Amino acid sequence: MQTVKNYNEENKERYLEELLDLLRIPSISADPAYKQDVLKTAKFVAGALKKAGAKNVEVCKTDGYPIVYGEKIIDKNLPTILVYGHYDVQPPDPLELWDSPPFEPVIKKTKLHPKGAIFARGACDDKGQMYMHVKAFEAMNKTKTLPCNIKFMIEGEEEVGSSNLGPFCRKNKKRLDCDVVLISDTSIISNRQPSITTGLRGLSYLEVEVTGPNRDLHSGVYGGAVANPINILSKMIASLHDKNNKITIPGFYEAVEVVSKKERKAMNEAPFNISTYKRGLKISDVYGEKGYTTLERTSIRPTLDVNGIWGGYIGEGAKTVLPSKAFAKISMRLVPNQDPKVITKLFSDYFKKIAPPGVKVKVHPHHGGQPAVTPTDSLEYKAAHLAMLDTFKKEPIPQRSGGSIPIVSLFEKVLNVKSVLMGFGLDSDDIHSPNEHYGLFNFYKGIETIPYFFKHYTALKQS
Ligand code: BES
Ligand code: MN
Ligand code: MN
Repeated sequence: MQTVKNYNEENKERYLEELLDLLRIPSISADPAYKQDVLKTAKFVAGALKKAGAKNVEVCKTDGYPIVYGEKIIDKNLPTILVYGHYDVQPPDPLELWDSPPFEPVIKKTKLHPKGAIFARGACDDKGQMYMHVKAFEAMNKTKTLPCNIKFMIEGEEEVGSSNLGPFCRKNKKRLDCDVVLISDTSIISNRQPSITTGLRGLSYLEVEVTGPNRDLHSGVYGGAVANPINILSKMIASLHDKNNKITIPGFYEAVEVVSKKERKAMNEAPFNISTYKRGLKISDVYGEKGYTTLERTSIRPTLDVNGIWGGYIGEGAKTVLPSKAFAKISMRLVPNQDPKVITKLFSDYFKKIAPPGVKVKVHPHHGGQPAVTPTDSLEYKAAHLAMLDTFKKEPIPQRSGGSIPIVSLFEKVLNVKSVLMGFGLDSDDIHSPNEHYGLFNFYKGIETIPYFFKHYTALKQS
């Protein structure tokens, strides 16, 4: 019988070709124009699972995009690992900033990826990372080395808030029964320094609308006498941070978990070079909440950011106009113990309160998500640690991430299982940005590492 290593070596070109085919389908969940492509991607994933050897593969209907399920149960008495991933991607805009079309993957070398990286929307987030699991499973299955049961749940609405995943999990509790959820949708510190994500931030996302006069006005005839909603909105937004870059919403920090000095010290010992960071982003300095380091600002501290702002005239040339309305999309990243519902209400009440007379304010909440922390003394953490040590030949470091994967807390609540976040991307892979990419090293390293996780987890669970 062949070993996983040999099998992977012999099939590595095909693995890559298949991923490139998957990346060619524009599965943009946010844009209804791509509905057929999103559905096609679900079918592609189902087909890939079947070919890899999964049983009971199903494209499960939901009120939104389908969830792809598949499993291989070898023995009911063995542990079961549920792999979660997403096949949807973010919109590629702004298109003109891509060096090659987002859905025509190309492989190019970069400084951090000297062996080459795949450039395409979804390459890293999350098609490339999700597909590593399909291939790792194929390798274990075909070499008869799968040590425990495996289930797959691959969704198509992660980038738009996973609103149908909760109901699906509640309806399918039995089918999804498992010992642990394994997710590769996060990053490592570098290709030489692996890390395991032990925390994710939560999210409150909303849209605000400020209305002044009932129609656009001549900015000369009326300007100076009527509230300009864009001026007002800018002022209101600016006032949400004080001079130390603390958020001014009353009660905003109330629930924030206080991280111990010891933990903060450990956190800041992770390899991180501020000059490289600044150089990579072409910024002369970092910017953020006083009293915290960059690593802390992007992990254990909450934030408030405008994601988009618009109103008035933005066409060619100058049009003198005093607009009737101004809008902004605002996100708040939350940390442990902050509740998205509570924070959304605090924001909403405060934002309305600070509006001056002469304008009306509306706040429309979008999706939210709970923060998550995962322990470092669990079996699954140990298994991930051992697996990465086996393949990187270096001890992985626990690290909290600034991103959000709201379903982690959902799995805990609904399925009563913990997740382990063993991602293989780099923070510099430009996910959600133009020129998203994923290292070939990372793709193959993931495929190599996953079977070790299965092996160690099964062994630890049975000892
Ligand atoms: N994979 C990301 C989250 C992520 C990225 C975690 C990098 C850690 C490191 C995920 O697809 C994502 O983009 N999540 C959204 C939230 C969601 C509710 C739209 C996010 O973080 O903005
Ligand atoms: Mn993702
Ligand atoms: Mn994403």
